[in-house]
Amino acid sequence: MIKQRIKKLAVMTSGGDAPGLNACIRAVVRTAIFNKMKVIGIQHGFEGLMSGDFIPMDANSVSNIIQLGGTILKSARSEQFKTKEGRLKAYKEIRKENIDAIVLIGGDGSFEGAKAFIKKHDTPFIGIPKTIDNDISGTDVCIGYDTALNTAMQAIDKIRDTAQSHERIFVVEVMGRDSGYIAYGAGLSGGAEAILVPETKADDNNLEQILRQGWNRNKSSLIIVVAEGDESGGALKVADTVKKHMPSHYVGVCILGHIQRGGNPSAADRILASKFGFEAVEALLKGKQNCMVGLKKNEICFTSLRQIKRHHLDINNHLLKMLTALTN
Ligand code: F6P
Repeated sequence: MIKQRIKKLAVMTSGGDAPGLNACIRAVVRTAIFNKMKVIGIQHGFEGLMSGDFIPMDANSVSNIIQLGGTILKSARSEQFKTKEGRLKAYKEIRKENIDAIVLIGGDGSFEGAKAFIKKHDTPFIGIPKTIDNDISGTDVCIGYDTALNTAMQAIDKIRDTAQSHERIFVVEVMGRDSGYIAYGAGLSGGAEAILVPETKADDNNLEQILRQGWNRNKSSLIIVVAEGDESGGALKVADTVKKHMPSHYVGVCILGHIQRGGNPSAADRILASKFGFEAVEALLKGKQNCMVGLKKNEICFTSLRQIKRHHLDINNHLLKMLTALTN
């Protein structure tokens, strides 16, 4: 661990946004200023790092943002940073601006970029995990998941009301290209009759059986929650399958989409984001670098960026047993 004096700290948000980013930026900026550092914000993620899109930040620049969704620093997914020319461009901007360390609030794609960068260049990074998909290793929970989950659950509650009044079946598609975390959490908390996630194989026969069982015991609504990346091909395809099996029923589709990425962060996300922001700066002060802060079993922990990868929802037998018992 090399302890070096950090005079100027930069903070950036990268990849898909998630509720709680502003709370995290605020915590990083306030902790850095408390420790007498200068702070700058890198705008538009790695794109802004490569083009020198920097803004000075002080305690006032993060006033009244803890409750806001989105990111005041903007975010982007960058193809150019995936190239070594792009990363060299970024390094030159870092040197020109005398940046001593970077707090990167990002997801697995952003951490892949940081990993490639630190292989060749000496600017230290500290990662903070954010993604509504909650699929990053090294932490049990990522900034944004709780809020997105609550948005999805509330949508299911509302759809359930109308489904119940009209005795209808609804297929609700939630986000998660490769991750079933939102589908699983929203399905469980919303009392869904079936939950389809990318981590398991789609089984039409099983789906039909679940739905028939529910209807036969006089349920007056059925909700199927499907993750966008599920093998079945999303809500529209699932609805077609259900219609084939149950042709006399109304089958509605509701695709929640980016609504899950916005909105005021929940208390849990604001607290998590504040803790992660504070701990990331504290870690840099203690000489830690090129690692990601996380929360495991309710304890703050650090994992080398090199070890960070995409993490999958563990669909084990116990979980399946619980879902079978509760969705019946
Ligand atoms: O990674 C978060 C996420 O919201 C995924 O669930 C979704 O598949 C993807 O981002 C959508 O990305 P974009 O906003 O670039 O369309």
